Amino acid sequence: MVMAIVGLQWGDEGKGKVVDLLSEGVDMVVRYQGGSNAGHTVVVGERKFVFHQLPSAALYPKDIVISGGVVLDLEGLFDEISELGSDLKASIHLDYRAHLIMPYHKLLDRLEEEKKGTLKVGTTQKGIGPAYVDKVARIGIRVSDLMDKDNFADKLSAVLDMKNAILSQVYKVKPFSFDEIYLKYLSYRDRISDIVDDATYLLLDAYNDGKEILFEGAQGALLDMSMGTYPYVTSSHPVVGGVGVEAGFPVNLIDRRIGVFKAYTTRVGEGPFPTEVEGSIEEFMRERGGEFGATTGRPRRCGWLDIPALKYAIMINGANELVVTKLDVLSGLSEIKVCVGYRVGGKVSDRFSTESAFLRGVVPEYVVLPGWSEDISRVRDFSRLPDAAKRYLGFLEDRLGVRISMVGVGPEREGILRL
Ligand code: GDP
Ligand code: IMO
Ligand code: MG
Repeated sequence: MVMAIVGLQWGDEGKGKVVDLLSEGVDMVVRYQGGSNAGHTVVVGERKFVFHQLPSAALYPKDIVISGGVVLDLEGLFDEISELGSDLKASIHLDYRAHLIMPYHKLLDRLEEEKKGTLKVGTTQKGIGPAYVDKVARIGIRVSDLMDKDNFADKLSAVLDMKNAILSQVYKVKPFSFDEIYLKYLSYRDRISDIVDDATYLLLDAYNDGKEILFEGAQGALLDMSMGTYPYVTSSHPVVGGVGVEAGFPVNLIDRRIGVFKAYTTRVGEGPFPTEVEGSIEEFMRERGGEFGATTGRPRRCGWLDIPALKYAIMINGANELVVTKLDVLSGLSEIKVCVGYRVGGKVSDRFSTESAFLRGVVPEYVVLPGWSEDISRVRDFSRLPDAAKRYLGFLEDRLGVRISMVGVGPEREGILRL
């Protein structure tokens, strides 16, 4: 059995919790794209773990894999490993193809955002975009480069010459010292030498041995570099298809393609958001849902569910199973709106477009459903949900045309209903 768990909105759908739940019987869990821009929360009893680069299954004794499509912040990875300490049960495999986030990537992420003016994306400033830019420009430094000391020195020296020219001449900031970065990364190299692997063969061998594999997407479909709301996107492919190109694992072997979405919508950073709400409803969602970034602490923008956007995300992922999270957050609203189409001119359509001008111009067509007042966070059986909550889920399943297999009613492991 192979699963992929991906976000269907603009990230933070609750993927971490779902991965933690579904990875229990799985042999291998893989992060295949993105990097430390991700913040995946797992709540176990009184404790909260936020995974950034390690898969959210690191609390189980199993194999976890960071594939070649990831851009890796080694310092952040070491911090994450040491914070987990004895909680880290898994053994880590790091693909030799993964690109390294270097100190200049983080600095450039900030400087470029400051210079962009109206083109600002509102990135997490973790160096993700600049590291992927170097990958595409073929001047990225990979894990394998670092493993070969002389090769690393040559590459770093050449790339640093280019980066320092930009930093000092364009941004007028102090250039980086070669020696400092070189020595620091050599010490990192010693710490990763035991975990460097060929993840592609590792995964295929595991599959051929009948092992269960779970691919954990970061971000969400609407942040996909090609298929998301460009330019307000991340620089990788968080969709199911990303597994093929970023981990070298054939996508036709993925049996369960599980799309996760919140019972409402959130977005962090810039970009169009047709169903965004302001005022008391936004406050309600943000406060009750704790809608502050797990990586940056920024308040998340909030709004109603958007069926055209979700249908698009389901389509581009080929999702065959859905998980709804945070249904409990909506308790107490007398009515709940769902956007079922976009009005443009005189016409209503449920087709999504990633064009900012289109999304900013549409008027959402809402269906208003009755809310419920009961606290559902301790419900553990679907049949015990209030009728209005069941009706809301039924409405969504009907409109989306894909089976909902689980519903989240609380952040902790137990806060899930299996349908
Ligand atoms: P991810 O990036 O998709 O893994 O999601 P985040 O961890 O960034 O954000 C999801 C937040 O919602 C976290 O604080 C989770 O603990 C929390 N969460 C997940 N599922 C539920 C749920 O069903 N109900 C509530 N109230 N919180 C949830
Ligand atoms: P998880 O995995 C929510 C957003 C940023 C910004 C845009 C580009 O926790 O769901 P980047 O730093 O990637 O260049 O930023 O993407 N973004 C996320 N939003 N959840 C995430 O990850 C995100 N990762 C990036 O806010 O708008
Ligand atoms: Mg998150």
